[in-house]
Amino acid sequence: MSVHNIQKRISIPDLRAMKGKSRIVMLTAYTKPMAQLIDAHCDVLLVGDSLGMVVYGLDSTLGVSLDTMIAHTQAVMRGSSHSCVLLDMPFGSYQESKEQAYRNCAKALAESGAQGLKLEGGAELVETVEFLVARGIPVMPHIGLMPQRINEMGGFKAQGREEDAVKKWTTIAKDFESAGAFGVLIEGTVEPVARAVAEAISVPLIGIGASPACDGQVLVTEDILGMFPDFTPKFAKRYAELGAEVSKAAEAYAAEVRSGEFPSMAHCFGVKK
Ligand code: KIV
Repeated sequence: MSVHNIQKRISIPDLRAMKGKSRIVMLTAYTKPMAQLIDAHCDVLLVGDSLGMVVYGLDSTLGVSLDTMIAHTQAVMRGSSHSCVLLDMPFGSYQESKEQAYRNCAKALAESGAQGLKLEGGAELVETVEFLVARGIPVMPHIGLMPQRINEMGGFKAQGREEDAVKKWTTIAKDFESAGAFGVLIEGTVEPVARAVAEAISVPLIGIGASPACDGQVLVTEDILGMFPDFTPKFAKRYAELGAEVSKAAEAYAAEVRSGEFPSMAHCFGVKK
């Protein structure tokens, strides 16, 4: 299957139209099997650069390359047919200039089949978003807690506690909307700020650790499944404990191999019934 199977998917205009009508459901997906399992229940699958930490065991998202993001997005496209798929542009692939951003964003869209891109940034990114949107690249800026800025922030710390936070982030979100962003994502930000931003813009605000005031929610799928043992953020709710199940299954398999119980004749070729 081509990775450009976008005909029947939820589109970028569909997402925009959901503002104020229905809450947008977004989860991360990094692989084809996971995309196949969750696609039907979501509106958006985000191929997040969090895959650097969740899949590759990095300490932060900073070491993820554009080619890695494209390869994982191609896999997610092959495993989905319903959700809108967004690719997260990795650190260093768009911050240098609007021209660099266009080159890498065009490559990401063309090679991955994703319908839109997510870019982390504040006021400094507005001009780039305008440049990209004017050239046919749908963009969702990511504001608030920006994991690509972990060094500057001194860790994964909730944002929006400063006195002028409401004014600062509503202004930035409105500027992104004026620049043509089809939505905004806000991470790890206190409720009053998220609420003010959601009310200030007429495109959807997707939240992660940013309260129910947002127009939709996103979480890392491995967090809701209990599959990322290293760390579970305060804002993530676990809906299953698959990590424990995986460990139990491996333990049972190991015991059966060691005792000779597995494989049985039922698992062998060339055995008469
Ligand atoms: O990389 C990611 O998965 C993200 C979400 C957590 C919003 O940016």
